[in-house]
Amino acid sequence: MCSAFRKIPFVQKALQLKTFTVLSTCATFDFFIYKHFKRNSIQRDEEDISGKCVVVTGGSSGIGRSSAREFAKRGATVVIGDVDLKNGQKVVNEIRQQTGNKNVSILKLDLSDMDSVEEFAKNVSAKHPKIKILLNNAGIGGSKDKNIITKDGFNIHIAVNYMGHFLLTNLLMKNLRAEEHSRIVSTTSTFMLMQELDLDDINMEKSGFGLDNGLPYSNTKYCLALLTKELGKRSGVNSYAFCPGMVNTPITHSPDVAPGLRFFYRITMSWLSVTADEAASEFVMFCALENRIKGETGMVYRFRKHFHKANKNLDADFAERLWDKSSEMVRLDERLRRFN
Ligand SMILES: NC(=O)c1ccc[n+]([C@@H]2O[C@H](COP(=O)([O-])OP(=O)(O)OC[C@H]3O[C@@H](n4cnc5c(N)ncnc54)[C@H](OP(=O)(O)O)[C@@H]3O)[C@@H](O)[C@H]2O)c1
Repeated sequence: MCSAFRKIPFVQKALQLKTFTVLSTCATFDFFIYKHFKRNSIQRDEEDISGKCVVVTGGSSGIGRSSAREFAKRGATVVIGDVDLKNGQKVVNEIRQQTGNKNVSILKLDLSDMDSVEEFAKNVSAKHPKIKILLNNAGIGGSKDKNIITKDGFNIHIAVNYMGHFLLTNLLMKNLRAEEHSRIVSTTSTFMLMQELDLDDINMEKSGFGLDNGLPYSNTKYCLALLTKELGKRSGVNSYAFCPGMVNTPITHSPDVAPGLRFFYRITMSWLSVTADEAASEFVMFCALENRIKGETGMVYRFRKHFHKANKNLDADFAERLWDKSSEMVRLDERLRRFN
């Protein structure tokens, strides 16, 4: 189809709807197979993380909270980074009580603000010279005003879901490298396959926000997958991204989520979703701890196996260009100089 025709708004929406339908159908099929034929035969071979430090962003809700609990159950020292410290402290107390592990704490982290990310990294780094796992999990799926531009000049989705994590990962790299076989795990989404990322229009000012305003989410999840690939190449720390499938958490109920998507979630959630606890214990723990993939890096997983379609979409040159662009945008060199 010629590119001028594709740019007609109606045609563009129809094509996006087609992609969405195909992706959702494939994801549903994959999940069905996983749930009914594979799930019960899962054999775990996990690394021991007792006494090791694990950092979880967005650890006071949903998948992050359940993951923090799973890490705590295994005896790790867990540091949660989140915006709302009041609710976060409640979650910390709850996890301590449920697991009997007192080494769980929360520190302020606002991923939409790069200075806050730097401050958080400084606080974590001062207390924990070695980090075993960094779980880049926090995210927003919708925002009332998709046009919000943060004080650093980023679209709010780009800032929270991607740039904040890009910066955090780089600032904590020394601590991750100081630990043996450390891992970086990022929570991405099948929606990454709907991306239309343009590095010259990273805030999507020219492209607009796509079908049901879903483009910012898709683009940022794609960025995380590209970050995973690039980290695999240059960091020396094993890096994994995973799609959890559909998980029944606040992000999917938010009134900020576009009406079309909310409707989709409502009709499918009850029979196709996993709980946050299941997502954490089955999919996060797989990427974070499974010995069988200890030697792998730079890849995306879904339902405890390689997500081939996603991995095929990760172009190495593009990943490198995104890295360079991100470094420039967060002023990485300047921040690293200050940090070290
Ligand atoms: N649920 C799904 O079906 C699904 C599917 C694919 C991928 N995911 C991904 O899974 C991850 C976790 O989402 P979830 O489903 O567990 O939803 P959730 O319960 O809403 O969790 C999101 C977490 O991110 C935190 N967060 C939001 N803005 C932040 C900021 N500026 N700085 C720091 N933390 C911030 C939230 O904190 P507050 O609660 O304080 O706002 C919350 O703890 C997200 O990256 C999401 O994109 C979810």
